[in-house]
Amino acid sequence: MSSAIRVGIIGGSGFDRSDILSNRVEHENVATPYGETSDNLVSGIINGVQCVLCFRHGRRHSYNPTRLNYRANIWALKQLGVDVILATTAVGSLSPDFVRGDLVVFDNYIDTTKFRINTFYDNETGHLEGVMHMSMHPPYSQDLRQLLLEACAETPDVSFKNKSTIVVIEGPQFSTYAENKVFISWGCTTIGMTQAPETALAKELGLPYAALGIVTDDVCWKEDGIVDPNEVVTIFKATFPKAMEVLKSTIAKIGQKDWTQTLETIRTRTAEAVMKH
Ligand code: ADE
Repeated sequence: MSSAIRVGIIGGSGFDRSDILSNRVEHENVATPYGETSDNLVSGIINGVQCVLCFRHGRRHSYNPTRLNYRANIWALKQLGVDVILATTAVGSLSPDFVRGDLVVFDNYIDTTKFRINTFYDNETGHLEGVMHMSMHPPYSQDLRQLLLEACAETPDVSFKNKSTIVVIEGPQFSTYAENKVFISWGCTTIGMTQAPETALAKELGLPYAALGIVTDDVCWKEDGIVDPNEVVTIFKATFPKAMEVLKSTIAKIGQKDWTQTLETIRTRTAEAVMKH
């Protein structure tokens, strides 16, 4: 079924393939007022739905979570006509209930990052004007979460968690055990490096956003746990086919839904959150 809705997909570490799209078109150097995207964006079709793929860190993993240009990535997706965004991201577990290979549909996050620009409204020339105070409740689109959860439940052999508060750390180092104990006491069950400011920036542009986490390591809650970065990528790649099945099924569901009212409401709310003099 073809549909007018356009879905942006942000692929995390280990997501380096564009062959998930048919009728592929590579967009070279999409210019944005906020600088350059991590890599060329690629548009095409998945399950009859127009999609645009963005490689969060670049296809060769060139940008660390602090340096990558979240604003350019989100802006470029919007510029290419995207209406909603699905993201994938590698995460660590902060709970014995979350094990390697689990898929997670986050329902909240805590941002502990320190060095990232988290708004499009920064008073710089050529950027969006005014000051935006966007409500971050709920951080993730309930509609997209719902469709992701349906897809998880309907896909065979998927082990998934239907909610998690993810703590976002600055990185690039993994966290200390002392930090992990604090994050666990805050109620966080997963840990990652990119959900902030990505989630908030999508909200600022009125783009419903949800993310599918892939649990790549499950030792952070253990006193003697040492995260192996190579294993993170290995587990991400091993789980990726299942995550793709879920994403593809979610995209089909997105294409079948009428988004008119939802997008209208979000766009009005977004416009009202900007203070102008
Ligand atoms: N991404 C994958 N595993 C992670 C971890 N343990 N901490 C932070 N980010 C991660």
